[in-house]
Amino acid sequence: MNTKGIILAGGSGTRLYPMTAVFSKQLQAVYDKPMIYYPLAILMLAGIKEILIISTPEDTPNYKKLLGDGSNWGIQLSYIVQKKPGGIAEAFIYGEEFIGKSQVCLILGDNIFYGKLDFLRNAIEQNQGGTIFGYPVNNPSAYGVVEFDADGNVLSIEEKPKSPKSKYAIPGLYVFSKDVIKLTKNIQRSPRGELEITDVQLEYNKRGKLKVELIGRGIAWLDTGTPESLMEASTFIHAIEKRQGHKIACLEEIALEMGFISLRKYIDTVNELPNCSYKEYCLSVVK
Ligand code: TTP
Repeated sequence: MNTKGIILAGGSGTRLYPMTAVFSKQLQAVYDKPMIYYPLAILMLAGIKEILIISTPEDTPNYKKLLGDGSNWGIQLSYIVQKKPGGIAEAFIYGEEFIGKSQVCLILGDNIFYGKLDFLRNAIEQNQGGTIFGYPVNNPSAYGVVEFDADGNVLSIEEKPKSPKSKYAIPGLYVFSKDVIKLTKNIQRSPRGELEITDVQLEYNKRGKLKVELIGRGIAWLDTGTPESLMEASTFIHAIEKRQGHKIACLEEIALEMGFISLRKYIDTVNELPNCSYKEYCLSVVK
């Protein structure tokens, strides 16, 4: 089953103001790379090569400047402007033509995962309708929360509940069948005027086609929407990179590892980079 990827990188980023007064949240630095490198790396590591980036009218040109058409990494990047932040599920309306008859993996541009990605590869391989993930957190009230039974059937999904029914938050990473377009067109806008991703999940669940996969504690899931969480994410990436000597979300290295580009192409691409520690790292990988 062909799987395409979407990175949703628009939104208002109000919680990061004034950092987001001039450029968008997903272009902010998470230690040594722009934030969007991390979700892009996840999609690439999941084997996805056709990726749509959706952002604001002001920021889409910046993403094009940063990432181009993806050919340096052996992937195809395309771009669509979301006129205003009308909800996460709008990704499937804007992405209708792009998705076509494929299934789609949507990742929010401010979600960072670190660890063995088998959970995602398995979900992509086994998805029948919709797959969401469940990740245990200390403060579930800040997230969409999933309640499920012993067989993994979803009992309820609630957005930022005051009294959460479980400690499992739903990260901004979803796998949906091509039907997601039809289902999204069926849902109504919420009182805040948005097409809610929760409602898409509930539509799948109504049809008995939603699965929740739990992500184990071996995976770090970080979000970066507030100054504090952004700082924590940077500190986390820095600590791992310093300790291991490996970079997280080095797109050139991932492209080479995944066999998306040849060694020749890798060397040519890396030679074009300005002199910096990122380039030194890329060179060291093939030494
Ligand atoms: P949020 O964190 O819910 O919102 P935000 O990014 O606008 O930030 P803030 O709450 O500080 O104002 O968005 C989650 C992700 O989804 C983020 O990567 C932005 C993206 N997004 C869009 O691209 N379009 C949208 O319509 C919405 C609601 C979110």
